[in-house]
This record gives sequence, C-alpha cells and structure tokens, in this order.
Amino acid sequence: MAENFLAAQDLQKSFNGNKAVAGVSFTIGKGEIFGLLGPNGAGKTTTIRILSTVLDADAGDATIGGFSLRKNPAEVRSLIGVCPQDLALYEELSALDNLIFFGRMEGLDGKEARSQAMVNLALMELTERAKGKIAKFSGGMKRRINLAIALMGNPKLLFLDEPTVGIDPQSRNKIFETILNLRDKGLTVLYTTHYMEEADRICDRVAIMDGGKIVAMDTPLRLRSQIGDPDKVTLEDVFLKLTGRSLRD
Ligand SMILES: Nc1ncnc2c1ncn2[C@@H]1O[C@H](COP(=O)(O)OP(=O)(O)OP(=O)(O)O)[C@@H](O)[C@H]1O
Ligand SMILES: [Mg+2]
Repeated sequence: MAENFLAAQDLQKSFNGNKAVAGVSFTIGKGEIFGLLGPNGAGKTTTIRILSTVLDADAGDATIGGFSLRKNPAEVRSLIGVCPQDLALYEELSALDNLIFFGRMEGLDGKEARSQAMVNLALMELTERAKGKIAKFSGGMKRRINLAIALMGNPKLLFLDEPTVGIDPQSRNKIFETILNLRDKGLTVLYTTHYMEEADRICDRVAIMDGGKIVAMDTPLRLRSQIGDPDKVTLEDVFLKLTGRSLRD
C-alpha cells in the first residue's frame, strides 16, 4: 500500500443548519486516483472546497502531503491544483493569458508562468489556439483549459470536480489520457463525476457519498462484486442500490 498523500478526518460543514458534509473521513494514497461519487447535493463539491482551503470546516481536519489544512493552509495550497465544477475563466482573455494569469496567482514569475502555460497548452493539444479568446472556444476546449489551469504550478494533488461534464468523447478522452499519464508520474487525484462508467474506468478506489456521508468505499471491482457478478453488475447498479432512486432536486 502506497503511503497516504491525503488523509481527511471527520470533516463537517453545515449551511444554515443543514449538514452538507456530516463527518467524512478517507485517505488517498500517493499516485492514486480516488473517485468521490454521489447524487446532486451529496456534499462532493463542499468536501473539495474544504480540502482545497476555500472553505473552513466546522469540525475535522485533513493532511495533504503531511501538512494540516488548519495549521498549514499555505503549504497545502502550494501542493494542490483545483479544476472547479463551475468554469472560472476570463472569457475576454486568450487561453495563454488565462494560464499565465493563474500561474502568477500560484506565485510563478512571468517567465516560468509562460513556459508552464505553453507546456500545459501542448498537453491539452491547444497550442495552436494559445492566442485565441476563451469566449470563442467550444465547451470541450474550455474544459481542457480548465484542466490546464489546474496544472499550473505543478501540483502534487489534483482536485477534479466533474471535469468532463457536457463534452464530446474526444475531449473527454484527452482529459482521461492526461490524468492517467500524470498519475503514472506520481500525481495524486481526487475525481468527482456523475458518469459511473468513467469512475469505473479510471478510479483506483471510489467513495460513494449521500447526504453528506460516505456510504461505501472500495475499488470499483470489489463494490460491483458485493452486489452480484462483477462482470454483469455496473457501478451504476451499485450507486442506485446504495443511494436509492428518489430524485434529489
Ligand atoms: N455556499 C452554500 N450555501 C448554502 N448551501 C450550500 C452552499 N454550498 C453547498 N450548499 C448545500 O450543501 C449541499 C451539498 O452541496 P454540494 O455542492 O457539496 O453537493 P455536490 O455533491 O457537489 O452536488 P452536485 O453533484 O450537484 O455538484 C447541498 O444541499 C447544497 O445546496
Ligand atoms: Mg458538486
């Protein structure tokens, strides 16, 4: 078992008296892709926002690369990259200028920010569109830029909050390929998605969240095996069995 790169212990967060995250604990090994799955409102994004130091937890703590969220938030920030669920791009700037801007926010000097921006644009096969305005980009290109931005500053842990929502198979595959290549180089990933076949394909382990709590956590294969023949049962079957069929919104 690889050493843990992230260890979250009893995270809790309420909004207006409602528990969005109700005591969440899990670990992610170095170089592991860990899936956080769950219906709308389960608490996935809130968990990511706590772990990425955007929100303070009401209780609990986590360590990332040995640093505590509560005691060493600046060190934690230097180790992580975040690909947010809601795109946060400057539509009127070029792709390159977006990457450079976010690189400078990470503390890179101008030269380093530019050179990392070019590397990450190439990774996403967007070099030729470097000078193009984001406003003119397709949905798939914007999602790829979102990932390229998360990679600025060479994070050791990447939070990917639904990075492939609403995009075509080509862009989706490019994103998978990039994540898997980076994982092979030692990057640790926390991944959320509503596409169960996606989680089954790329995640080493997954946690299924519902109502702010983790209701199951294991490898996709073992979770499938728990409810039937793993060759016939899908992760979606497991998900629906554990979280029920009632709508959440
Ligand atoms: N800033 C906020 N203020 C008030 N309530 C919030 C806030 N952020 C999240 N919530 C509530 O907390 C709960 C968990 O939300 P969260 O966004 O973490 O869910 P999620 O699992 O990411 O869902 P989705 O799959 O829709 O992205 C929801 O009930 C949501 O309405
Ligand atoms: Mg969310």
